[in-house]
Parts: sequence; structure tokens; C-alpha cells
Amino acid sequence: MKPQRDLSHLNFILFGGDYNPEQWPESIWPEDAQLMQEAGVNMVSLAIFSWAKLEPREGEFDFGWLDRIMNLLHAHGIKVDLATATAAPPPWMAKNYPDSLPMTKDGVTLYPGARQQYCPHSVAYKTLAARLVAKVAERYAQHPALAMWHINNEYGCHVSESFTPAGTNAFRAWLQAKYETMDRLNHAWGTAFWSQQYGDWSEIHPPRSAPTFVNPTQQLDWKRFSSDAILALMKMEVEILRRITPSVPVVTNFMGFFKPLDYWAWAQEEDLVSDDNYPDPLDPQAHIGSAMRYDLMRSLRYGQPWLLMEQTPAAVNWRNRNAMKKPDQMRLWSYQALARGANGVMFFQWRAAKAGAEKFHGAMVPHAGKDTRVFREIAQLGSELKRLDPLVRTTNHADVAIVFDWDNWWALELDSHPSIDMSARNLMPYYAALYQHGVTCDFVPSTVSADKLREYKLVVVPNLYLTKDGVGPVFEQYVAAGGHMVIGAFSGISNADDHIWLGGYPAPFRALLGIRIEEFEALGAGQKQQLITDDEESFACDTWRDAIQLEGARVLARMGEEEHAEAPAITQNTFGKGSAVYVGTCPDTQALTWLLARMCAEAGVVAPLAAPPGVEVTVRSGDGRRFVFVLNQTAQNVEVKLAEPMRDALTGLEHAGVVTLAGYGVAVLM
Ligand code: GAL
Repeated sequence: MKPQRDLSHLNFILFGGDYNPEQWPESIWPEDAQLMQEAGVNMVSLAIFSWAKLEPREGEFDFGWLDRIMNLLHAHGIKVDLATATAAPPPWMAKNYPDSLPMTKDGVTLYPGARQQYCPHSVAYKTLAARLVAKVAERYAQHPALAMWHINNEYGCHVSESFTPAGTNAFRAWLQAKYETMDRLNHAWGTAFWSQQYGDWSEIHPPRSAPTFVNPTQQLDWKRFSSDAILALMKMEVEILRRITPSVPVVTNFMGFFKPLDYWAWAQEEDLVSDDNYPDPLDPQAHIGSAMRYDLMRSLRYGQPWLLMEQTPAAVNWRNRNAMKKPDQMRLWSYQALARGANGVMFFQWRAAKAGAEKFHGAMVPHAGKDTRVFREIAQLGSELKRLDPLVRTTNHADVAIVFDWDNWWALELDSHPSIDMSARNLMPYYAALYQHGVTCDFVPSTVSADKLREYKLVVVPNLYLTKDGVGPVFEQYVAAGGHMVIGAFSGISNADDHIWLGGYPAPFRALLGIRIEEFEALGAGQKQQLITDDEESFACDTWRDAIQLEGARVLARMGEEEHAEAPAITQNTFGKGSAVYVGTCPDTQALTWLLARMCAEAGVVAPLAAPPGVEVTVRSGDGRRFVFVLNQTAQNVEVKLAEPMRDALTGLEHAGVVTLAGYGVAVLM
């Protein structure tokens, strides 16, 4: 991992949000700054969508307004996460450089009028963005309010691939660098199939709209290329910023499990990971989804602190029906990010807009002003967080790792597969089962080293369809040395070129798992089957059924259906000093809860507290301190038993034996 810039100036919990002063008359700014102080805001993200205001005509720059607001914020003790402003080009760019516009796979050009209308491969965009970044960096390099750089915004959010002629040329160059010869490309892409053999690089196209399934390896390489090409834009900005302001940390904001960008690669290029998270209050599982992405965010830079860069205090505006967070739910969900390693809680946005497509989006200062429930909750949170500054030198330490790869995600969800239901969504039941047990997980990529894996007592691989060379032996080493592993269905199927590993599935893991699979079948949509465990519990499974032959493994659960009665469904193999479980179907969360309880017990993984259902408990420690977060994700009062007397860092109250939390209540115990 590349080293991180010094973050010691960020030795407090960051609290604030996106601030768009350019949308308001300057006469409002002093009130903004004063209200920010009242709310406990200590940092804002500034100028994210300000390119048109900073460069109203090509080559003509106006920084006067940004100077004034930077100075005002500094005078009020508010730090700035200053944007490079490259996320939304001004309309003049499209007029002066029409080929800077992005194009869909059907050849449709995307025009100005919204945001992010640039093709990542456009020379004009890159040149103009680089010039702007340098101007902004030079101007504010020494500004005392500058705390970090906010690069672009949510790269790939609206446009994650672009099929322009420039994109086609860049793809060809990327392929040439990767394969060097046509022969190697033809072999990797398996072009002997359907008369696809290429004679020259210029014959190759991106996977555009085509008569039927486009070559899978071509599609996979296009995804890899598109993630790399957008990452190159960030690297371009990072290079400029590092040259002009070598010690200022650089950050770009991620979007959780965002399929188009391989965040393992991305996170290495920045100093601090940050996430924008908009859980749907109407989804009863929303908090589990948040927990999962926060664990991912913490893992991307291997346990270093990260930031919740955006969330809404109230409702969003972009779903069909935009539910409000309930009273206290915003507070609870903010603490959830801290509970999983965040060192800051920020919002989109400071003041609710009066015009534009986001005028119905929630904000820290709603349309009705400061005399509102939302502002009061914000100010309460802002004042509480000041008590948690010692948290910044702590992190979570997990005993369980989940293997997760973007390459696998892309390959798994390609078309022309056995079942459309076999997708990355199948990760969730595994995570949810561990969550129910109160177990915090790290994520690791499949190419993780054996040394890193050994830090974990249990490693869960919900799916690893695409298994790269060398992964099988590393997993074997881990288990042989005493590790415990659970591998989900349709894993170990293809290599990095998406060619099948031959010799019975899952070939790279057959010795480890002690099984051989001759055939598998997709179950019908919504079709459930019965799963009976070796202790005669009955659960449901769906989507998939492997025909497993035992080659040394024992059966933990079998199929209950008469036609394949007694067929092994979940197996366990002793391998060296450890054991490896294979799950040859998609069990429901209850079944996985059963399985993972058993595996946690075998591996010696225990939850920090025995909490009632719906109560989330995590631990952050380091620097001689230990904080236990107790989060009541239910609307009812709950009682949580403590093993020893503890003090709540938020209220200062001592709790002996038990802590009682109101619905959506939080305690941070020391
Ligand atoms: C994010 C974006 C913000 C704002 C927000 C609304 O995707 O970064 O600028 O649009 O969504 O929820």
C-alpha cells in the first residue's frame, strides 16, 4: 500500500457537509458561517460544482468569491475540504470541444444540462481539468483553511464508461499494452469461437450494442479498462496536487459497493478513503447494508480511518418515494459510521437549495431555517461529537475476513451464465448472518497474501467465480496452518481470462474442499428448496444446486427434496490443521446464520457483547483506549447486559451491569 500523507492536523472528529455558497447571495454567507459554528461544524467541502463560476469563459478565471468565502470560513475556525471542481464542466466546454461529451454504448451523446458530461478519454477535458486543478492548487496552497483536497466528485457516478472514438482508441492502446501481440489477445479472448479472431488492433471495438452476447473476456477487459481510465483522471489530479502541495492529503468520495470502479486499486492512490451513503429509511435492512459498506470502506486502506463524506440529514430527492429518516435515526446512523472506523460525519448538504434538481434534497439547514427538528438534531450531534476526539487514533480489529473482488463481480454478472440470480447480491445473506452474530468483518481482495489472511480466524468467500492463478494455493496454506474458510457456490470456476478451470468444479479448490462437482443446475425464479442440517434443522435455499461428490469431505447439510434426497448441499473438509466448508447452494439468511454460528464457534470468533436482536455492537481500540459502540437499530427500548461497569463517553453516566437504550438510541462505552 502506498504511504499515507500525514493526517495529524485532522486530530478531531470531522463534522460538516457540502457547502455551495455560489448558489446564494453573498449577504447570506456570514449567517452561514455563524450557524455552522452554532452547529459545531468544523469542516465543509467547498467548490465541488463550481467550475463554471471559477472559469466562466474558457481561460478566464475568477477566484475572488472563493477567496472571500475561504477567508470567512477560516475566520470562523472552519476547515475546508477544497474541491478541484472538475466534476461538472461548464457548458462552454461542450460548445468549444464537442468531442469532450461522453457517449453511451448505443452511440447516444450525453449533453450539458445536468452534470458530469465529460468523456473520460477526452483530451480537451483532461487538458482543461489539469489547468483548473493547477490554478486552484496554486491559489490556495498556503491558505490556512485548507485541510485536504476533494478530487472531482463521485467519479463514475453518472458516466462510468464512454464509447466515443477517443474511448475506442484508448481501449486499443490499453489492450496493446496488456497483451503486446494479437496472438495473446486472441488466446485470452478465446476468439476461435464464433469467428471472432482479430488480425489487427484496429479491428477491435469496445463491447458496443451487438447482435447477441459480446465476447465475455472483451466485456471484462472493457470494465477493467474503464475503471483504469477513470482512475487515470484521478491520478492526473493527484500528481498536480502533490507537486504543488506535497503535504496536503488528497481524497475522493466513493459510493460503497459501486460496481464500475475497482476501489481496491483506487484507494491506494489517495490518503483517506471516504464514502457517500444514502440508506433508504423504508428498507428494514438498510442499516445492515450500511454496516457492510462501512466495513468495506475501512478495509480498503487496511484499517486506516475513513470519512463518511456524504449522507442526508433527512430525505433524498432521487428515489421515486423519498422517506425521511425518523427522529434520532440520523444520529444513530451517523454513529454507525464512527462505530465502523470513520473519523468524520459529513452531509450533503449544508443549506437546502432553492433552485435546481436537488431543491427537495434534505440539508443541515432546511428551507424552514434553523428553527427546525433537523437543525436541532444536527446541532446536538455536532456538540456531542466534540467529546469523541480521542476516537481518531483507534480502529476496529476484525477476526473475520470476507473476500471481495471487483474483477470477480464484473465476471460473475456477465451475460450468458447459468443463472441471472447468481450475482453479487448473494454476498448480503453471508454478511447479514455474521452481522446477526455481532461479528465485525474486514474485506480483503482474493489476491491477498497468506500473511494477511493469517490475521483472521475465519475467512468467508461468498463467491469467487473468477479465481486467479495462485489464489488456490494461498487459501490452502491459510487453512493448512489452522485457518477456517467458508466458500460459496459457483466459486473456482474460471481464471483471470474467464476460461473455465477444467477437471471438475471447483478445480482450484477441490483438494482444499475435498469435493468434486460434475454438474450444477439453476433453480427457477423464486423456487425454494429444503436444506436439512446434520443436527436435523430445516432451512430454505434457492437459486442454485451443485451435484457434490465427496472426496474426503463430510456433509453438514443435505438437500431435503425427494428427487435429490440425501444429496450433499453443505460440506466440510479437514485440511491440515484447519477446515474448509463448501456451500453448494444459496441458503437463506437463517441457514447461513446457523452455519456461521457453527464456524465462528469452531474458529473461536466471539461477539464483543451478547446484545439483543437489532442491537449493533462494535469495538474501536488503539492508543491505549477502547470504545464499545452500542447502537439500537430498533424503534423500541432495549436493555443490553454489560460484563463490567462502563462509562458512556457521550453522557458521562456510569453503567453497572446493564445499559438501557431508547429506540434508535446510542451509547459509546469506555
Ligand atoms: C451524491 C453527490 C452529491 C449530491 C448527492 C444527493 O451522489 O455527490 O453532489 O448529488 O448525491 O444525494
